[in-house]
Amino acid sequence: MTLFLAFQPGRAAERTLPYLNPALPVAERARDLLGRMTLDEKIGQMAQADLLALQSPADVQTYGLGSVLSGGDSKPPVNSPQGWLKTVDGLQSRALKTRLKIPLLYGFDAVHGANDVIGAVIFPHNIGLGATHNPALVLQAEHVTAEEMAGAGIRWAFAPCVAVAQDERWGRTYESFGQSPDWVAEMATMAVKGFQGYTLSTNADSVLACAKHFLGDGGTQGGVDQGDTVCSETTLRKLYLPPYRAAVNAGVGSIMVSFSSWNGRKMSGNKYLLTDVLKGELGFKGFLVSDWAAIDQLSPDYKADVETAVNAGLDMIMIPYGPGHADNYVEFIQDLKRLVDERKVSLARIDDAVSRILRIKFRMGLFERPYANDPALMAAIGSPEHRQVARECVRASLVLLKNARQALPLSKKIKRLAVVGRGANDLAMQCGGWTISWQGSGQLTFGTTILQAIRQTVSPRTRITYSPDGADLGRPDAVVVVVGETPYAEFRGDRTNLDLAPQDVALVERARASGAPVVTILLSGRPLVLGPALDASDAILAAWLPGTEGQGVADVLFGDYAPTGKLPCEWPRNNEQLAANHVTGTPLLPLGFGLPY
Ligand code: GLC
Repeated sequence: MTLFLAFQPGRAAERTLPYLNPALPVAERARDLLGRMTLDEKIGQMAQADLLALQSPADVQTYGLGSVLSGGDSKPPVNSPQGWLKTVDGLQSRALKTRLKIPLLYGFDAVHGANDVIGAVIFPHNIGLGATHNPALVLQAEHVTAEEMAGAGIRWAFAPCVAVAQDERWGRTYESFGQSPDWVAEMATMAVKGFQGYTLSTNADSVLACAKHFLGDGGTQGGVDQGDTVCSETTLRKLYLPPYRAAVNAGVGSIMVSFSSWNGRKMSGNKYLLTDVLKGELGFKGFLVSDWAAIDQLSPDYKADVETAVNAGLDMIMIPYGPGHADNYVEFIQDLKRLVDERKVSLARIDDAVSRILRIKFRMGLFERPYANDPALMAAIGSPEHRQVARECVRASLVLLKNARQALPLSKKIKRLAVVGRGANDLAMQCGGWTISWQGSGQLTFGTTILQAIRQTVSPRTRITYSPDGADLGRPDAVVVVVGETPYAEFRGDRTNLDLAPQDVALVERARASGAPVVTILLSGRPLVLGPALDASDAILAAWLPGTEGQGVADVLFGDYAPTGKLPCEWPRNNEQLAANHVTGTPLLPLGFGLPY
């Protein structure tokens, strides 16, 4: 007997509005929802407020904010995975109280792991990932990052930075995968796939990626952060566009627009590049988000800035300020509404921006799963498995620049080993900027320093003398010197010269005076001008900013992993070679250089 389940309309499941029906195509859901929205509700979706700027969590509901971010120093009251989840879900509950229940999208800078979250694994910064020349490893690193940030409730990463850094004096060189457009493009593809999955989806470990900062952020004159990239359109396209073509082809759902300018014109107001080139020619279908109050730099008149930026093609505006400060998220909403009323910004442009945002939210499944609670993902934050992936990235990122007298690898059975330098036992130096705080506070999280890694690698009979200032070397059979840059981020890292600090050079020379082989390990966000340290070292390892898994450095030091890293950027001989916006003349070491054992 065939049982007929007669479909009786009267008894159909409760009718859901089309936009709330996940069985419908995303485009149809977005169209339906857009058609129900008031202008206020549309403009609210285009506003992204910083967590610390919110006058009250209720503002998410009052203004129907589309997004909230944690900028470099905006942390929840309790910085733990549970603390992040509680804060994000708390704001989400406000968003779901709005008339149309449009879920909020929360974002932060997961640029080398879920690096704002205490306990998360901190990966090598992009310059180190670039040095691995291993796309599969980068895919894995970003996927682990996606899992850890999703475990803490964050579904939008302001990453990958796909800058093609040309002038290594730029404070954000370490956020770039390197100086070669093609190499950065390949990394962009893998990073987007790592964050989003094969395609952005409703999967719990699929988070929205954000390629940044469009366009030419790494090519400014003198490497000045937020400065001016002066070049022909041919050069602009050749050097800086390939990573965005790759990211768009990989399905990146958002792109962040750069603070910087091209030939004197701020990117936040460049309609030709944002709309005609990126959205038109490259076919980018996601949404464009501004950088941190970047539109304020367009002119002294905020309302005019809003008009210029939105008409240029920006879809969401990152607003770090609340009422009580100029250029705040309430003023943004009021100004944009006035501009539409005055027909200075068309409703079509608003609808395009909001549709782009809504389509991403539908694709991520935010309407079906607005709360991020995934106990398995939260439990995996900082797990041994995740740390192992980061350790493999560290190993593969180290570049052997010199190895005279076969100083490396060291023997695990070495009798007396001196370890000197401020970087040997300093998780902050190891992690660099964008770690727990904007300027870098790696010491506040959990990891393994290089000294700790050495201690747990050598034989029980090895006597290790640790002397940060090298005052006491203890008649060593070898000396490991760990020096380099203290943490910085963005413009605070801009430098006019890249000399290794004099005290670091002196330390290497002091180690040299012991007569034992000297192994210098550099913790830096870019190549450094080594000066006398070059000859005073028997071996030199560029470790970049390896993150929490210092064991990966010891793996190379003692030969458990033979170095495979290749320079992602040229290594200058001196500062004079840096004067022309890129390394001029014959560099000390060329792009792609790296010694094996
Ligand atoms: C910063 C950076 C950008 C970051 C944003 C939010 O100024 O330029 O990379 O994503 O603000 O923290």
